[in-house]
Amino acid sequence: MRLLATILFLCSVVLSAKAQRRCGTVGYAQQGAFALNRPVGNASTDTVLNQRINIPVIIHVLYNTAEQNISDAQILSQLAVLNEDYNRLNADTVMTPNVFKPLAGNAKISFCLARLDVKGRATTGIIRTYTTQQSFTANDAMKYSAQGGDDAWDCTKYLNIWVCNLDSISLGYGTFPGGPADRDGVVVGYNVFGTVGVLRTPFNKGRTATHEIGHWLGLKHTWGDAICGDDSIADTPQQEYYNTGCPSFPHLSACSPNANGDMFMDFMDFTDDGCMNMFTVDQVMEMKSLFVAGGPRSSFLNAYQCDSLMPQGGALPQTPSGIDTVVVQPTISVYPNPAHEKVTIETSGFSVIGKTAYLYTATGIKILDVPVTQPKITVNLSGVPAGIYILRIGEVTNVFTAKIIHL
Ligand code: ARG
Ligand code: ZN
Ligand code: CA
Repeated sequence: MRLLATILFLCSVVLSAKAQRRCGTVGYAQQGAFALNRPVGNASTDTVLNQRINIPVIIHVLYNTAEQNISDAQILSQLAVLNEDYNRLNADTVMTPNVFKPLAGNAKISFCLARLDVKGRATTGIIRTYTTQQSFTANDAMKYSAQGGDDAWDCTKYLNIWVCNLDSISLGYGTFPGGPADRDGVVVGYNVFGTVGVLRTPFNKGRTATHEIGHWLGLKHTWGDAICGDDSIADTPQQEYYNTGCPSFPHLSACSPNANGDMFMDFMDFTDDGCMNMFTVDQVMEMKSLFVAGGPRSSFLNAYQCDSLMPQGGALPQTPSGIDTVVVQPTISVYPNPAHEKVTIETSGFSVIGKTAYLYTATGIKILDVPVTQPKITVNLSGVPAGIYILRIGEVTNVFTAKIIHL
């Protein structure tokens, strides 16, 4: 029971009742159980449901050893996993049992490294800070510069992700919406972050961040943090307790409503990274409900912190106090051009992750849209008639366009 309590503490969201500046609407955190009114197909919330939401991310890397100072490649590999998992583009959707496939939801949420800091200056979206702390526990010290960590950025504009050496019992933890502003975000162990680098098997597929961000977007654990508890999500079956390792389907437990048993492959269970592969439709509705007008994450609807090629306003970078501020010269290349079957779009010094690449005919008819999940994407042109097309990435600001000739 003690172990259970410890695990639940470490794996759960951290709530604080103290009166502090809160991220989002005051009141959600105090509810503890955090039950939002879920949209029931009414038009105004459906708008958010089907809308792509872009979340600017700031990564605080805290390192005491060189190994803990994870590479940019490792960070980008985590972003790629998030952009797959939150768009049902993960390769392992095929592992979702057939009976659960109709329940699988596509959140249409994209995550991008911030390009603008809180003062409107250019940033890589990654802050690397040396710390004398050899490891951290789930007491939030990593969120405070004064405690060997790094202060949060404005949580109405950025998802703060702290990557550090966490005590081995915990892979990560996340906060629910509506909590204290300076603690809002997720913490993930450096050795369970992303898919490349020094990683701890079987947590080497980036699913700890997927899970913790699920909490940040209001989701509870599938077993409701109690024996046969309730996660207030209708389409996740009730289950007795959390699952670990890699169960085989069906896995029945004490309160299974039917022969399909536990949805142990849900991202909000505790199975191995390689054995979780879905959010449900109702979990997606719950997450999307945070973004409706007045909702605790609604400030992200018009997020622009990933959009800018160059710094806007504010002073130019001074000696950064832990802030990795460099003015980057962005490049985007499109090749081969003329293209035959495929065209590759490659970017550097500028994040287009989270945007959509659109292809238009010369007369302005949209024929393709492809989510940009990585710095380098390949667009398949087979099936597209030969001709001259316009590629567009970006919505309103910093729109990038190129002419593509398809032979
Ligand atoms: N908060 C949970 C823990 O620290 C995260 C579990 C994530 N599960 C995973 N397969 N990555 O254990
Ligand atoms: Zn959890
Ligand atoms: Ca449920």
